[in-house]
Amino acid sequence: MKRSLFAAFSLAATSLVSVPAATLSVRVDQPGAAINPAMWGAFFEDINFGADGGLYAELVKNRGFEFPDALMGWTKLIPPKAKGEISVHSDLPFAPGNPHYVRVNSGGAGLLGLSNEGFRGIGVRAGEAYDFSVRVRAGAGEPKLTVRLYGSDGAVLESVDLTGFTSEWQKYSAKLHSKDTDAKARLVVLVDGKGSLDLDFISLFPERTWKNRSGGLRPDMIQVLADMHPGFLRFPGGCIVEGNLLATRYQWKKTLGPVEEREVLINRWNSEFLHRPTPDYFQSFGLGFFEYFQLCEDIGAQLLPILNCGMACQFNSGELCPLDQLEPYIQDALDLIEFANGPVSSTWGAKRAAMGHAEPFNLKLLGVGNEQWGPEYIERYAKFAEALKAKHPEIALISAAGPSPDDERFKFLWPKLRELHADIIDEHCYAKPAWFLDNAHRYDNYERNGPKVFMGEYAAQSDSTVSVKNRNNFECALSEAAFMTGLERNADVVRMASYAPLFAHVDAWQWTPDLIWTDNLRTLLTPNYHVQSLFARNRGDRVLPVAFSQLSPAEEKRLYATASFDEATGEVILKLVNATAKASVCTVDLSGVRQVQRGTVTVLQSDDLAAVNTFDSPDQVVPKQTDLTPVGPKFDLTLPANSFNVVRMGVVK
Ligand code: AHR
Repeated sequence: MKRSLFAAFSLAATSLVSVPAATLSVRVDQPGAAINPAMWGAFFEDINFGADGGLYAELVKNRGFEFPDALMGWTKLIPPKAKGEISVHSDLPFAPGNPHYVRVNSGGAGLLGLSNEGFRGIGVRAGEAYDFSVRVRAGAGEPKLTVRLYGSDGAVLESVDLTGFTSEWQKYSAKLHSKDTDAKARLVVLVDGKGSLDLDFISLFPERTWKNRSGGLRPDMIQVLADMHPGFLRFPGGCIVEGNLLATRYQWKKTLGPVEEREVLINRWNSEFLHRPTPDYFQSFGLGFFEYFQLCEDIGAQLLPILNCGMACQFNSGELCPLDQLEPYIQDALDLIEFANGPVSSTWGAKRAAMGHAEPFNLKLLGVGNEQWGPEYIERYAKFAEALKAKHPEIALISAAGPSPDDERFKFLWPKLRELHADIIDEHCYAKPAWFLDNAHRYDNYERNGPKVFMGEYAAQSDSTVSVKNRNNFECALSEAAFMTGLERNADVVRMASYAPLFAHVDAWQWTPDLIWTDNLRTLLTPNYHVQSLFARNRGDRVLPVAFSQLSPAEEKRLYATASFDEATGEVILKLVNATAKASVCTVDLSGVRQVQRGTVTVLQSDDLAAVNTFDSPDQVVPKQTDLTPVGPKFDLTLPANSFNVVRMGVVK
């Protein structure tokens, strides 16, 4: 963006004459680069109970008794007079992939069994239905199984009995209805009567899931994600792709098929931060690659899977797969492309069809590694690229640029990746708000030829990276909006961008800030969410050149603009950030326009930079929309102090 020389004069002139209003000229008659329709996306990782305990609607933690401590999440309920025992076994399980189960042996003198705590409680709503299921094998006697929901105050919310068990493993189901709404209920299974029962895969799902898919995803969380209009979804991580050892890396093939056969794996965030330990964090993979693909399709987002490239997390072991043993990793990538796009006659296309999706998923993007760095990455990326490009030149590969946007690792990687003709390079940035304000022009002078940029993970940190004091405050959101104006203005270089991380459970997070906060029943939208959403919902198709002039010194540093044209609606879209403490009156000058017929101005503003949204006060910082009355091509617009403004104008050219 060109800035007027006048700004240099204005510093000297301010004390003598009044400062002229800022002018923003917008060249509607000179549309520039096309903006990628998938420009503004979302990055999902199973961190902060994002999947298990979050998107994946299963309400029972450790349903298959497969955590290393088989009874983690469960409490034995053996009243003193009950005369019985509860033990864990693994001989003759109902599914080889789910070897452990529980045997409840009752002397018949009282009910005994187990209680599950859920994911920091079990969220239930009054009157809503819940699908309970359990695998049971009867031993001696003919006891009943009593299934109850208890509220956090100890009240029974529901109780049903199951009977008729046989000496073979079978699945039994029941519909539960909760009498009350409670975010911290418990599920209890009790053996009633003398005898023994083997129990496994004890599961409870809300009947109401996203698209009412049985065993599906949490609809409120997906709705707010869909409302953001993400152009793509990057998944499943993040460091979780890498694992702290190669043995604990994410392997997409292990996330397909019946859920009870999906092998449980420790979540990399389980013990990553000693200040936020989460010993009960494991991956059930109930949200697996097929479900991710389906989710992308549902919300109209392009799929962007990230695969391990033979490197464990370099913040942990940094374990490397030797170069001459990379073949299975590369084969996983080739098979994934076939799973997504291959004909039903192909091996992996047939597996996709068997899961209920004969049509291809239209995969176009694939990430090789997450946040890797060093020559070790370049060597591995080169091998992946060679094999993938030979067979699938149609797939754009995303390569890593390390964890920082400007350190030595970054400076090493970019030229190397350029030499390798990389398609799109994934830059990451977690920094203070000032970095984002100062770097809104970062891409103005980037090389136009060669690899494109994916700002794959970024978020302003109010305190410092990985600090528990970080808040999703308005200052951070405003600085991100300022930075994003620079991404959009440079849409010929920057093809995609996504905030990180996406979801966090208020009682189970490891990392803050996060775009959307949840508890067991609710979602909370942050100011940062509103910024992302406003950009994605007001993208436009072509960048329009903008130039400020007559800025005051404060405005010169902290006023930001981007403009685009929406071809379908014939609208000019302005996104303007005033990150100064004073309102700016800005004369907007639209060249190539005769008349502005109609329009809206949406403002995200707060006088308090520290303002946050909370579950008690979710609307502290929310967008407010007003109408723009018809005007000529030159008009004054007031940009309130500390504000992000989106102006949509139907224009006559
Ligand atoms: O977004 C949280 C983590 O930050 C991601 O897993 C990783 O890629 C980055 O270091």
